[in-house]
Amino acid sequence: MKLAILSRAPQSYSTQRLRSAAQQRGHTVKVLNTLRFAIDLAGPEPDLHFRGRPLSVYDAILPRIGNSITYFGTAVVRQFEQMDVYTPNTANGIVNARDKLRATQILSRHNIAMPATAFVRNRADVRPAIEQVGGAPVVIKLLEGTQGIGVILAPDAKVAEAIIETLHSTKQNVLIQQFIAESRGRDIRALVVGDRVVAAMRRSAVGDEFRSNVHRGGSVEPVELTPEYERAAVRSAQIMGLKIAGVDMLEGNDGPLVMEVNSSPGLQGIEAATKLDVAGAIIDYISNEVAFPDIDIRQRLAVSTGYGVAELVVHSGADLVGKTLGESGLLERDITVLTLNRGTTVIPNPRARQVLQPEDRLLCFGKTEEMRSLNPTRRRARVRKLPKKVEEAS
Ligand SMILES: Nc1ncnc2c1ncn2[C@@H]1O[C@H](COP(=O)(O)OP(=O)(O)O)[C@@H](O)[C@H]1O
Ligand SMILES: [Mg+2]
Repeated sequence: MKLAILSRAPQSYSTQRLRSAAQQRGHTVKVLNTLRFAIDLAGPEPDLHFRGRPLSVYDAILPRIGNSITYFGTAVVRQFEQMDVYTPNTANGIVNARDKLRATQILSRHNIAMPATAFVRNRADVRPAIEQVGGAPVVIKLLEGTQGIGVILAPDAKVAEAIIETLHSTKQNVLIQQFIAESRGRDIRALVVGDRVVAAMRRSAVGDEFRSNVHRGGSVEPVELTPEYERAAVRSAQIMGLKIAGVDMLEGNDGPLVMEVNSSPGLQGIEAATKLDVAGAIIDYISNEVAFPDIDIRQRLAVSTGYGVAELVVHSGADLVGKTLGESGLLERDITVLTLNRGTTVIPNPRARQVLQPEDRLLCFGKTEEMRSLNPTRRRARVRKLPKKVEEAS
């Protein structure tokens, strides 16, 4: 395959390792500076230029987009997606993972356990939010920090309030998060590639530091993950739309608590700790997947007017409960069921003989009107006439 690594740091350990792993396997690989692309939206097809010249054809890209260039970098990745070039991490996935609040919002929708988190803006809401996450000590986080910078432990509510107010006054948005004391300055980094964890390490903070980031002097050791931790990591990456991710988890009393999902995980610490060829695993994965680029189904399926994607919930007591999909009448209404979500399990391409249970969620593609009519509480709102008074005034 012909692979482009998008990176602004060609000399960094991670980029070097990825490049040589690709070369060793006989692939053609180039490291391209993300900021030297030009997105070309003229003409009939989406295009890209690199250093002022039309870009040659690539089979796959591996984006390594740093925090400081998220907007431009993800625009470039999105352009490759429009050109049907395979990328293990989508632009959407990278954007969503980068913002700690957005990531938390998306993951919480899918029953991923996380430290209790709150997000407020008004001064009056700060104290209740601190209580909401379990009271002091609390962790305060900048939304887009990395390497432990912008993560603060506030020992009591008064100090927490003062810090949050100060940050708000400089227009910084912050998360308020429950401090997981039982993890004692340690956390787990799991490196997810595709649908498995290829390497994992435990990081431990030094001295009285609570942040275990390697950049904060944290030490690393290899760790064998239990299936529970492995599942949490793989599901988190999958939900975020990332096939290559570093998932950070705290070791809570009741199991893993996901803190964040990194879309450009560093390889130095994890390869040193585990002695595993993580770069090789990443390249092998990409070369296997290259023939099947992930497509944005919403974008592709929403182009026929009147058709769309919707989620139908089987409410308990509804007619559908106990019926099979075949008997449900959905097919006759021109509605195709893509997946069936039941609790935390997903059944892709459910069969006609699948029996529906209360609270099942069906991801459907079909006529928007038909799908709406199955949800009787929602009515199509008419656009009404302006009231008389407004009409006269104008
Ligand atoms: N809620 C928490 N409870 C205990 N420790 C935490 C908590 N949140 C973060 N930490 C510690 O701080 C480190 C950095 O936090 P993280 O959210 O991963 O930010 P960054 O993006 O800067 O790495 C984590 O690796 C962990 O050791
Ligand atoms: Mg982290």
